[in-house]
Amino acid sequence: MRVLLTGGAGFIGGHIAEALVARGHDVVVFDALLESAHGGGARSGREGMIVADVRDRDAVADALRGVDAVCHQAAMVGLGKDFADAPEYVGCNDLGTAVLLAETAGAGVRDLVLAGSMVVYGEGRYDCPRHGQVRPGPRAVDDLAAGRFEPRCPRCGNELTPGLVTEDAPADPRNVYAATKLAQEHLAAAWARATGGRATALRYHNVYGPGMPRDTPYAGVASFFRSSLARGEAPQVFEDGRQRRDFVHVRDVAAANAVALEAVRERPAGSFTAYNTGSGEPHTIGEMATELACAHGGPAPEITGGYRLGDVRHVTADSRRLREELGWRPGVGFAEGMKEFAGAELRSGPAGGRGRPAHA
Ligand SMILES: NC(=O)c1ccc[n+]([C@@H]2O[C@H](COP(=O)([O-])OP(=O)(O)OC[C@H]3O[C@@H](n4cnc5c(N)ncnc54)[C@H](O)[C@@H]3O)[C@@H](O)[C@H]2O)c1
Ligand SMILES: [Zn+2]
Repeated sequence: MRVLLTGGAGFIGGHIAEALVARGHDVVVFDALLESAHGGGARSGREGMIVADVRDRDAVADALRGVDAVCHQAAMVGLGKDFADAPEYVGCNDLGTAVLLAETAGAGVRDLVLAGSMVVYGEGRYDCPRHGQVRPGPRAVDDLAAGRFEPRCPRCGNELTPGLVTEDAPADPRNVYAATKLAQEHLAAAWARATGGRATALRYHNVYGPGMPRDTPYAGVASFFRSSLARGEAPQVFEDGRQRRDFVHVRDVAAANAVALEAVRERPAGSFTAYNTGSGEPHTIGEMATELACAHGGPAPEITGGYRLGDVRHVTADSRRLREELGWRPGVGFAEGMKEFAGAELRSGPAGGRGRPAHA
């Protein structure tokens, strides 16, 4: 199968390209080499790669020639610097997806796999001992500043037990990036209905592994910790370090994309299906920092009590649907993956090589 892979020069896209080639597929890599991801210097990509923006209709139309399926990874990622980034997020992620889908429809390509994200859920699942499953709202600044990090039952104020979120949980995007990732899904679903296409969204959890971008405002928490350790500094852990996440290895995410692409043509025309894509092994951010510091041989993490507005407390996925329907199994365990990541190369981005301190 010939696959158009947008964002193919990115962290996850690069691993997807490798996985697809290893399974005998043809890959057309398409990437704008965004400055926020790659720095200003990266203007020429690997050989054979199309360096263009998904908002460029003509470039997308050209790239779609002879293509059987689209794997859409291109997006501006992370929380960004501040709200001023909003137009750029919406441009890349939503206008970009709309242009890509319009051209895909025009080219008669019907199969799409989209990089989704757990951020569409907002907070994860919570249960109150009295009220059962509840949905706490965003945490108040006063609570965060006072070190009250755990969301409480919105009805009785009780402590809550975090659980695993399933694909049918209602969406509740809490920041601009999350809103754009949800809109991408809605656009993909609308495209499928309007054109008889078949769309699969893989809602990735916290992806980590070799080639992860260094600490930029757009990077994930594992890379902040990894970059601190590389500088000989202690990882700075926000809140009390007990936030629960699911860290899924990038090679497992790449494999999930490969199986999803191979299976998407079997789905009914007009369908959109979302799959949580997590390791199924929840850990706290503090545990991740400790594991990484041990494996790296660096200083122990420091719990700072700091916080970022828009961060959620706990979110961990139930990835059973992906296992059961697509036969995917994560192959890299937490300890093994963190050990490899502690010594892995990171991708230099805008801050790469310039010694810019994390959270400056
Ligand atoms: N890394 C994670 O933990 C994570 C979690 C959930 C979802 N995702 C999703 O996975 C996908 C890949 O993310 P990543 O972590 O590899 O990030 P990344 O920044 O390494 O890769 C994204 C790539 O997309 C390209 N790109 C961005 N906007 C573009 C545009 N308008 N036109 C063409 N190319 C464009 C960038 O140049 C970059 O190479 C994204 O859709 C992201 O939302 C990532
Ligand atoms: Zn309650």
